[in-house]
Amino acid sequence: MPLKNKIPGIFIVLLVLSLWGEAFAAVDHIHFGSKNTPLEGLTITWQGNYSHCRIRWGYTTSYEQEKGAKIEGRIEFGDNKYYLFDYTFPALEPSKVIHYSFQEYNAIYDCWSYTSEWTRDYTFQTSADVKSERFTFIAGGDSRGENCWLQMEGWQTVAEALKNTNADFYLYMGDLVIQGGDKQMWNTWYEAGRNFLSQKLVYFSAGNHETYGDPELYNYINQFVLPENGNFTELYYSFEWGNAVFINLDTNYDPSKEKGQADIQEQNQWLKNQLIKYRGLGTKNYKEWVIVAFHKPLFTIDKHMGEMTGEKDCNTKPCYDFTRTWWIDLFDKYGVDVILNGHTHLYMRSAPILLKGTGPSGKDITFNDKGLPSTPVKKVKYGNKKGQGRLQVVTGGYGVHLLTEDKLKYKGQWYIAKDEQGNDIYRLDFHYCEFRVAGNVLDMTVKRIPDNKIIDQVTIKH
Ligand SMILES: [Fe+2]
Repeated sequence: MPLKNKIPGIFIVLLVLSLWGEAFAAVDHIHFGSKNTPLEGLTITWQGNYSHCRIRWGYTTSYEQEKGAKIEGRIEFGDNKYYLFDYTFPALEPSKVIHYSFQEYNAIYDCWSYTSEWTRDYTFQTSADVKSERFTFIAGGDSRGENCWLQMEGWQTVAEALKNTNADFYLYMGDLVIQGGDKQMWNTWYEAGRNFLSQKLVYFSAGNHETYGDPELYNYINQFVLPENGNFTELYYSFEWGNAVFINLDTNYDPSKEKGQADIQEQNQWLKNQLIKYRGLGTKNYKEWVIVAFHKPLFTIDKHMGEMTGEKDCNTKPCYDFTRTWWIDLFDKYGVDVILNGHTHLYMRSAPILLKGTGPSGKDITFNDKGLPSTPVKKVKYGNKKGQGRLQVVTGGYGVHLLTEDKLKYKGQWYIAKDEQGNDIYRLDFHYCEFRVAGNVLDMTVKRIPDNKIIDQVTIKH
């Protein structure tokens, strides 16, 4: 048959396939966030093709808690092809399995009472009681692929491993995708991480890559439900758990702009107020553990060292100084226990870091014009008491291309923890950091992916 006679047939087949796809458009991008703790404010977010959707859920597959809440979507990525939906659960029972499913609802067909079928059953494990002083959380970051958005096999391997872990919640230190403004990259990220993201609660910090193509972090904020801080931004925030407080900070400011400088100062003031609230003299809100998470590390082993110190590139860029004059000063003063970062693509543990009074002749640590700190004259232990130092963990191994030995510019620096043979403690592996808190003891076990081999372990006891 001549081709011209085939065209109408091909057209009809394509049209039918297209309509079929619309009629059975799948709910996708399922993930969890929270405005507050894992039990109060837990919110599920998903993407659909129609403007309305229903969700049902319960502690059994009879979905006895909610039979079909109708949710109106909001437009995603500035176009009208996809909609995002949020559903915030009422206060949840601890340590239970939730069953949930969705039904897409096409308002266009409202007069015909048309709806699609309910999706398959999904499950989510609620956390332990948030007042408990025994809990587990897992930290990690940097899943973005190589130069092509299709390459997220690493993240898929990591997400499948994380799916099989059992933590009360997860902290994710940014650089999820290469370009935060690229819808296709987000699609790939959700697709590769589907089994993890649809079952676990993650608190995110934005990485620098989330700002690429999206400098105001519109897509990031639009997708993720996170606690707010009183300034109505989710870019830095805190939440409490039992005897701990978690403080997530933002490292994406542009100090060359007036707004960037103002935002930095606003965040710094907020941070100070938080530390006073939880660790200030005589506070009623005292927390045994203060854990801070943000994307760019203050101390690291590769070329990123100095980015937060303010000296690097001072000739071409305005100086800003998180390390010396802003954050670490506060972290030391108020005894922050753990600092969690990504950005450098490996696992690295810091030595106990205390800059005050540990420098030459007992003075404070100073920094050279490359942003490198001088060597302390006295060693300190991990802890939050006066004279003790911070545990800073760089955990950038969620699937991104890992660093190679030749990229580790700052090997041997004092601020990198040493093993018994005096070797730097770092690993060029995909991994996650599992923290177990039990009263006044915090244990960190770092596990390699995919074989779960323990590659580092440290315990802090107050
Ligand atoms: Fe980064």
